[in-house]
Amino acid sequence: MDYKKIVAEQIHKTISEHLSFEEIYKMIEVPKYAEQGDLAFPAFSLAKVLRKAPQAIAQEIVEAVSDEHISKAEAMGPYANFFLSKGKFADETLHTVLEQREDYGNFDFGQGRNVVVDMSSPNIAKPMSMGHLRSTVIGNAIVNLEKKVGYNPIKVNHLGDWGTQFGKLIVAYKKWGTKEAVEQDPIAELLRLYVKFHDEAERDSSLEDEGRAWFKKLEDGDAEAEELWNWFKSESLKEFNRVYDILGITFDSYNGEAFYNDKMDPIVEYLENNGITTIDRGATVVHLDKYDLPPALIKKSDGATLYMTRDLAAANYRKNTYDFAKCIYVVGMEQSNHFKQLKAVLKELNLPWSENIVHIPFGLITLNGKKLSTRKGKIILLEGVLKEATELALKQIEAKNPSLENKEAVAHAVGVGAVIFHDLKNDRTNNFDFALEEVVQFEGETGPYVQYTHARAMSILRKANHTVDTKEAFSLTDDDAWEVLKLIENYPNVVRFAEEKCEPSAIAKFVINLAQAFNKYYAHTKVLVEDEAFNSRIALVQTTASILKQGLALLGVAAPDEM
Ligand code: ARG
Repeated sequence: MDYKKIVAEQIHKTISEHLSFEEIYKMIEVPKYAEQGDLAFPAFSLAKVLRKAPQAIAQEIVEAVSDEHISKAEAMGPYANFFLSKGKFADETLHTVLEQREDYGNFDFGQGRNVVVDMSSPNIAKPMSMGHLRSTVIGNAIVNLEKKVGYNPIKVNHLGDWGTQFGKLIVAYKKWGTKEAVEQDPIAELLRLYVKFHDEAERDSSLEDEGRAWFKKLEDGDAEAEELWNWFKSESLKEFNRVYDILGITFDSYNGEAFYNDKMDPIVEYLENNGITTIDRGATVVHLDKYDLPPALIKKSDGATLYMTRDLAAANYRKNTYDFAKCIYVVGMEQSNHFKQLKAVLKELNLPWSENIVHIPFGLITLNGKKLSTRKGKIILLEGVLKEATELALKQIEAKNPSLENKEAVAHAVGVGAVIFHDLKNDRTNNFDFALEEVVQFEGETGPYVQYTHARAMSILRKANHTVDTKEAFSLTDDDAWEVLKLIENYPNVVRFAEEKCEPSAIAKFVINLAQAFNKYYAHTKVLVEDEAFNSRIALVQTTASILKQGLALLGVAAPDEM
């Protein structure tokens, strides 16, 4: 039910000669204070055409109102204020959600079209950092939102599995590594070898040449080089997959940078044939002055291709393979220029789909106020964080609910959910600090708080042991129920906003607000008394539980029935 529409229709009756229905609809506001009603219409702009005081216009508008959804309309200064009929609103909202269930808040903007979401994309032989966690969980939430509005999302893990560093790694492994050590703890060992290479290379510069030579071999398809590279890759992927399993996230494609090795020539040729490349000191570049961007480097003077070259090939491949409506890159803000360049180069080629290349940047995570960097060895390993979070959650469950069944599984959902939720509740471009103890709290604006509220609602439903009779009209008119209902009614708008802005934080903030409003309602209301409003109250509890669960699911956070 679109209440704005109902109100707009009522206003239209009086001023249809001067404003269209759509114009009126757009002008309707939500007042700041509850005394001013639920919806309001400002009449100032009509004063001139109507040659009347806005107060008088507002008065005329409210006098003409008659609709069962509106309990009261009154003029307050230049505003016509509308109070919705609470009983009707409760009845319609609850019936809608109970009927539509999981489909509540769905849209069909996507019409089944494909959306590629380039997400996670860690680098082989390096630890998956908190930055990759951000890309993974933000990407996953965006995928869920795209699905909710009718797109078919395709999750692509654009692995960083190519580049000169693999030549160096081969050299380091052959000199100082063993098969056993790598197999035992692959990423830590490969990282150690990589760091050692750099330390040694400071003293002995011939190592760099050796590294380059091995990378050349790899590029030329040398069997030994390829075997080692494949092995580094599969060992790394084993570790990454462990983290993805913990997070409950899967991918449709792991086509990373190396996949494009044999797919770059056509796009580079296309660039050259379109006359947009220039040779600059032997290197092939595309000048992007008119976009206020530095030139995009396509090929180095020795003919080597780059990150950009592979991304151009990848964009082209994805367009041909998936015919995407949008290709979304969930990558840190520090790569903003890279994606602006990518889009600009495609635009220079007059490819209309360059418009559909979307970079979704996000901010940095700091640890106790400090920046994390791989080079200085200051990384927190994601898997460790997730395990620690799960342990913290288990401790709290032991304290609060020692007799709970499946404690381990619930602790997993709560600990991992807490980390995901904390990442998603901030506007994604904000930087934020990570302190695990704050993240896994059952109080405050946290994931566990929302999960706990959901579990509480489920426990009320178990106690009530009542199947909601949907044939009955629901009636709830108290202020606390009203706050809950208004949020629930607004859920589809929040979904739409979050998808449009690729901003999962809107959903996180929404579930926090809903959990808070529900807890206030529950604190003030005897839900389980079996009077004539019992059926309505249980309908409200059931609806709230269901929307909390759906909202969390959009974020990739589970909602256990008991905690
Ligand atoms: N591997 C890169 C990194 O860790 C991210 C890749 C993002 N995706 C892309 N198509 N460039 O920085």
